[in-house]
Amino acid sequence: MADKGISLRELDPRDRYKLLCGVIVPRPIALVTTLDENGAVNAAPFSFFNVFSESPALIVLGLQHKPDHSPKDTTRNIHRDGEFVVHMVDEALSGAMNDCAVDFPSGDSEVAATGLATVPSVDVKVPRLAAAPFALECRRRLVLNFSPDRELLIGEVLRVHGRDGLVDEANMYVDLEAYRPIGRMFGNLYTTQRDIFALSRESHAQWLARTQELKDA
Ligand SMILES: Cc1cc2nc3c(=O)[nH]c(=O)nc-3n(C[C@H](O)[C@H](O)[C@H](O)COP(=O)(O)O)c2cc1C
Repeated sequence: MADKGISLRELDPRDRYKLLCGVIVPRPIALVTTLDENGAVNAAPFSFFNVFSESPALIVLGLQHKPDHSPKDTTRNIHRDGEFVVHMVDEALSGAMNDCAVDFPSGDSEVAATGLATVPSVDVKVPRLAAAPFALECRRRLVLNFSPDRELLIGEVLRVHGRDGLVDEANMYVDLEAYRPIGRMFGNLYTTQRDIFALSRESHAQWLARTQELKDA
């Protein structure tokens, strides 16, 4: 790579996508359910996704329009009623998540097609997927349009459902071994989270003491 790096403004969008999505890895995956105007449950995965803050509890989704410039079903449904459920994807749900990315015709429910069972939510009308390790009931807070084909949706998480045994509610500790989330690498490549290591956060005083000890050794 040249010393000056790669200027993103000089890349075409496809190469920009490849570079950014190859560099910023892994990305979590939101499997999002919404309701269409006839009450059918739509489900689709989104990896332009992350948690943004806890007070308020905000998540962000990057919603790209279809090649014909029309909004995806998820986008249309969230525009209409402002409600959605984000499901985290674990190893067991990965195949169904991928099936939900098939370009089913609008109005066809991915949830019905894949046979995923749903259960009612509490704070939103959109049902959640029973098989998900975590389901986050969300309401739209803000939509930012950065181009005619790309919007950034900011949603507030109203309620979190966790599968039995995944959260110790006494201290809100999540059991990562039991959770087994997957992340998206690039294209059709995914990663498991089985190789976890710890790095302790130090105060400046602790850091000085430790590095001084190393110098003295
Ligand atoms: C792992 C994965 C991540 C994806 N991430 C996004 C994303 O962040 N934004 C997006 O617009 N589409 C994304 N897609 C594509 C949508 O899931 C796909 O277009 C889907 O058919 C949209 O469904 P809908 O029209 O029912 O909303 C992703 C697909 C996969 C498999």
